[in-house]
Amino acid sequence: MAETAKIEFNGHSFGLPVLSGSVGPDVLDIRDLHAECGIFTYDPGFTSTAACRSKITYIDGDEGVLLHAGYPIDQLAEQSSFMEVAYLLLNGELPGAAALDKFSSTITRHTMLHEQLIQFYRGFRRDAHPMAIMCGVVGALSAFYHDSTDISDGYQRMVASHRLIAKMPTIAAMAYKYSLGQPFMYPDNSLSYVGNFLRMTFGVPPEPYVVDPIVERAMDRIFILHADHEQNASTSTVRLASSSGANPFACIAAGIACLWGPAHGGANEAALNMLRQIGKPERIPEYIARAKDKDDPFRLMGFGHRVYKNYDPRAKVMQATAAEVLDKLGVDDPVFDVARELEQIALKDEYFIEKKLYPNVDFYSGVILSAIGFPTTMFTALFALARTTGWVAQWNEMISDPEQKIGRPRQLYTGPAQRDYVPVEQR
Ligand code: CMC
Repeated sequence: MAETAKIEFNGHSFGLPVLSGSVGPDVLDIRDLHAECGIFTYDPGFTSTAACRSKITYIDGDEGVLLHAGYPIDQLAEQSSFMEVAYLLLNGELPGAAALDKFSSTITRHTMLHEQLIQFYRGFRRDAHPMAIMCGVVGALSAFYHDSTDISDGYQRMVASHRLIAKMPTIAAMAYKYSLGQPFMYPDNSLSYVGNFLRMTFGVPPEPYVVDPIVERAMDRIFILHADHEQNASTSTVRLASSSGANPFACIAAGIACLWGPAHGGANEAALNMLRQIGKPERIPEYIARAKDKDDPFRLMGFGHRVYKNYDPRAKVMQATAAEVLDKLGVDDPVFDVARELEQIALKDEYFIEKKLYPNVDFYSGVILSAIGFPTTMFTALFALARTTGWVAQWNEMISDPEQKIGRPRQLYTGPAQRDYVPVEQR
């Protein structure tokens, strides 16, 4: 018999069904709580609330585990490719060779943007932040594909998903090119997903661009590590925006806006800026002291996580990749020494131990991206590019879920009770 939790309220006892997933903690089904008891639950920041059922990603924050459809992130990062992971997130299974080939070729054939979209870039200041451009241009895609996106049709949803995954590198690379005043590079479909992105970003029309396999592999791994992270803030934003039945391109733009914040995806940019500001290992104690000072708003960027209370498994792979990339590219960046030293000092500090603050995915990613040649302002745009796969997978899952409803949280009202309007001359 299914388990039930009991709550006592106002002298009545109510039973709440307990739901079990395949792994992880059980959840109390409170859907009928208000109808039966007349009360709501209070959970700002959703620290104890499961908002959906999902088969895509599983995290055990205490054990430092991250699985996509059951596969551990370190195995995926080391052995698979971003295209495989994108397929896995969308379909729930790893592709066979033929399916992977077909999927990669489908994505490749959606990489071009409508020529009219180029006009949107021209409207931005040259120094616009790439994330501002990404929000605008991805949102604008909704104007190009609105009539061809019937979200109740699984096939059309899949085409929209492929379009988004395919066009994101083009959009991000164009944001970068625009900031430099260099010509936009059209996609080259003979290259891999990452190789094409690198060429569109760092190539120029008068010269052939040769993709460096070390950089290509490192970027592919970074994309895998950022591909999905269950119900994080930007993914929940995409789900909430989409729950009204809105256009997916507009909803992904909402996700990009949320990701931009320094507490979320914007932390990779903020972390590298912080490491550069620290500059040398001797200055680390000063910043550690600031991070611990309650009166100082400063936080160690790239540290801490809502769910991981043990090491972020993505950070482990990221640290190893950073060492590998710097070594293979022969880059000697003191910022990496600062990062390693800061990590060691923080991990031994009582404050960080007690609060279970560990490096997260964003702590080392900036070091790698900087070594590859990306300016810090592009870091979060790269995160958005990769996370688009997770966003579209979660969006598809939500739309096809029969339990899906428009997202509509309730509130604990603390304003004035009803009162009569007073004409302005009597106030
Ligand atoms: N440096 C110093 N103190 C910290 C930090 C930090 N980076 N993170 C959390 N704390 C302290 C915080 O002050 C609080 O202390 P107290 O209990 O005394 O008030 C305690 O630890 C718990 O923090 P919280 O803000 O209540 O925890 P949260 O789960 O709401 O926030 C977080 C998680 C990631 C927003 C936060 O750790 C943070 O701001 N980290 C820095 C930004 C960052 O690196 N973000 C990237 C997250 S991973 C990638 C992604 O999600 O996009």
